[in-house]
This record gives sequence, C-alpha cells and structure tokens, in this order.
Amino acid sequence: MAIRFEEIKPAVGSRVVWDDRADIFTPEAAQLLRAKLAERTVLVFPKLDLTDDEQIKITDLMGGKVKLTGQFNKQDTDENVYQVTLDPEINPQPEYVLGTYFYHMDGMPVDFPPPFATLLSARKTAPKGGQTEFASTLAGYAGLPEAERAELDCLKVIHSVEASMVPLRGLIPAEQYEKVIGIQREIERPLVFTHADGHKSMLLGTTADRVVGMSIPEGRALLVRLLEWCCQPAYSLRHEWQEGDLVIWENTAGLHRAMPYDPASGRMMHRTSIAGAETVA
Ligand code: OGA
Ligand code: MN
Repeated sequence: MAIRFEEIKPAVGSRVVWDDRADIFTPEAAQLLRAKLAERTVLVFPKLDLTDDEQIKITDLMGGKVKLTGQFNKQDTDENVYQVTLDPEINPQPEYVLGTYFYHMDGMPVDFPPPFATLLSARKTAPKGGQTEFASTLAGYAGLPEAERAELDCLKVIHSVEASMVPLRGLIPAEQYEKVIGIQREIERPLVFTHADGHKSMLLGTTADRVVGMSIPEGRALLVRLLEWCCQPAYSLRHEWQEGDLVIWENTAGLHRAMPYDPASGRMMHRTSIAGAETVA
C-alpha cells in the first residue's frame, strides 16, 4: 500500500507513513486522507518538507482551499498560504496569532461553513515551547453518556470574535481592542456537528460565547465543562514539531492550540485551510 497509518493514541491521531513521497499528491491519496481524518481527527506527516505549491496542491486535492483571514503580514509567499508567526518583522498584528495559545477551532465566527480541515507545516520551530496540542471533540462526544449526548444534540451556540479576544484582554491597547472586537461578527452554530458519515463532534473553543436559551453563566459553565472533558489525556495529544512536519486536523472535530513561544524565536508555520461543506447539520 502506498500510504499507511500508525495510531498515536487509541481515540485520536495517526502518523502517516509512505514509501514514495509522490504517492501523497494524488486524488486517491486525498480521498484516503479525508476518510482517515474523519476517523482519527489528527494526521501527522513527519518531515514531509512541503513546498508552498505542494501544500496548496494537497489542500486543493482534499477539497479545495479557503481563505480565513485577510493578509496583514509582510510576506512573500503565495497569497493562499498564511504565515503563522509572531516575528514583528513579518507580523504587524500579532493579536490573532496570540489567540492561538487558547483552544479554538479555525473560522468559527465567520459567516461561511467552518473549514473542514487545517494544514500546518513547520518551517522553523521554536527552541522552547511552540508545540501544538489537539483535543478531539469527536472522541469527547462519543465518550459522553447517552442521555447527556441527547440533551446536547439540540443546543445552539453563539460564536464571536469578541469572545475569542477575551483571553488577550489587558494586553491590547483599548482603542485597538475596540477596533478588533468592533468587527462584531457573531454567528449561531449547532453545538453538535453532524458529519457526512453520521459521526458527531462538538464545536467548542474560545469563540464559543454563550448557549442559546440558557442563562449566560449556565451556558458558559457547560461550554467550559465540555471543553475540559475533551482535554482529558485519552482524547488529546501534543505534537512536538520537527522542521518539515505537516499536521492536518479535522477542524470541526479537533480543538487546537499552540504552546506559548518566544516571538523572537522566529517560529514559522505555513497554514492552509480546506473548505467545509455548505450544509451544517
Ligand atoms: C492557527 C493555529 C497553531 C500553532 O494558525 O490557526 O491555531 O501551533 N496555529 O501555530
Ligand atoms: Mn487555529
């Protein structure tokens, strides 16, 4: 077989193994990877050493690229590749990247279907910190008692940019903070997301602000409790980056966050996103 998979943990994560690197860039491989992602949430490709063109190629083969953020960086890479960095020479607006220190899902408060998956490739690692952690809300949901799952199934959650900025309060000067949260994007999404194959996961993270129909404290307490549940060791993992690694995760089934790192470390990740399905059950 051209591509093989090794389990990282029983409930989450697979390492991808290949004999011939070229076998990864085919439509057949893309279909296989999509199916594996739906099952395992996180796929690690050790030392794949992607070029930007190759990363865009995999992204397109796996479902088509989607742009999540405007381009503020002073970067010379392809416009479809977002450079995740705190290097002040490249990134004049570090607040969004600092927001990656807190568990989230990409593209949640934005008014289009949440991206199916995110691809992150390590171009330069930090000597200390900078690992990426994942918590599977697919495994977490499956591990809940049936009665609780049934209650969660009908809930709706408001996601907002403002909520995702809360962990950065006190860091960003007031007027700039107002400008960022002034985007005032809010969107209602189901708490429980039903995938094409029938599996269910939960849409959680810093953007999840409140539960529709619940009091604010009750709803937020529920969101925190569910997030903590998904972070238990059986459902979560930490990736220690080596330069050249690629990780793809199912964005609507896996919370992710970066471990803090020194902005002067030069840590540089290249990110692309795969578009989500039009219908969100
Ligand atoms: C992101 C992100 C995590 C990391 O770019 O959306 O969450 O480890 N990055 O840099
Ligand atoms: Mn992210």
